[in-house]
Amino acid sequence: MKNEEMDLIDIEVQLFLEGIYLRYGYDFRNYSRAHIKRRVNNRLGLSGLNNLSELQHLVLTDEKFFQSILKDFSINVTEMFRDPEFFAFLRKDIIPVLKSYPKLNIWHAGCSTGEEVYSMAILLKEEGLYDRCQIYATDFNADVLKEAKEGIYPLDVVKEYTSNFIRAGGKESFSEYYVAKYDSIILNHSLKANIIFAEHNLVTDQVFNQMHLIICRNVLIYFNNELQSKVFDLFSNSLRPRGFMCLGTKESIKGNDSSDTFETYESNLKVYRKTR
Ligand SMILES: C[S@@+](CC[C@H](N)C(=O)[O-])C[C@H]1O[C@@H](n2cnc3c(N)ncnc32)[C@H](O)[C@@H]1O
Repeated sequence: MKNEEMDLIDIEVQLFLEGIYLRYGYDFRNYSRAHIKRRVNNRLGLSGLNNLSELQHLVLTDEKFFQSILKDFSINVTEMFRDPEFFAFLRKDIIPVLKSYPKLNIWHAGCSTGEEVYSMAILLKEEGLYDRCQIYATDFNADVLKEAKEGIYPLDVVKEYTSNFIRAGGKESFSEYYVAKYDSIILNHSLKANIIFAEHNLVTDQVFNQMHLIICRNVLIYFNNELQSKVFDLFSNSLRPRGFMCLGTKESIKGNDSSDTFETYESNLKVYRKTR
């Protein structure tokens, strides 16, 4: 029977994603279709192949080529103190609540190359909370995690990061937190002491236990509603009662069946709190 809902391209994309899942275990079937199609078209253009069938054959038979598709699907853009007003809010409104706990567990899901995690580490240091924190920083892309662990960034980002840091309410001078070497900055080793970097796939992997705060910003934007709901369940099961969940400014629990589990804590900055 003909499926009237799907056009030919949709069927080909679906088969392409099924193939990747069966062959490599990476499940992109519920990523936003618009995102996947954009990335597939881009890769088709770059590789000089004629159509999706040829791309599918190459992906299934050449693991190295699959790694480039994995990179295509995982957009890694990030920066330190991205959306400074979010970090200012963390400092002013959430940290005071977290200060009442003797030990704190924080999870950055989809941390990319680590800039967001180190921003948090600096904030926690300045608020005197770092030593009682265990920070988990995860991503499904092993290459970006490797860079995250190193904590070395190009020198030319310093101006922008310093400005973000000041707007986020930074107390010290930003230059206290790195040394410049040639055309790079190397973040202070002490920022890494309580961070564990680990591979974790939000689609297929398990919960983290007893988190007080989960930051998952600019990741769910690439997922469809069904997958977002699944990830909200994962986060709800990973959080302690009354734990916080922070999303990116373009993301929200709206349209998902999570209103019983989470209440809105700050609507513009997409900060939510587990209801119990
Ligand atoms: C745009 S970056 C966001 C980085 C950072 N959170 C920020 O807001 O600046 C999105 C990250 O999500 C990761 N990602 C995408 N799908 C994922 C999945 N299923 N599990 C874990 N990480 C994923 C990507 O590898 C990428 O590093």
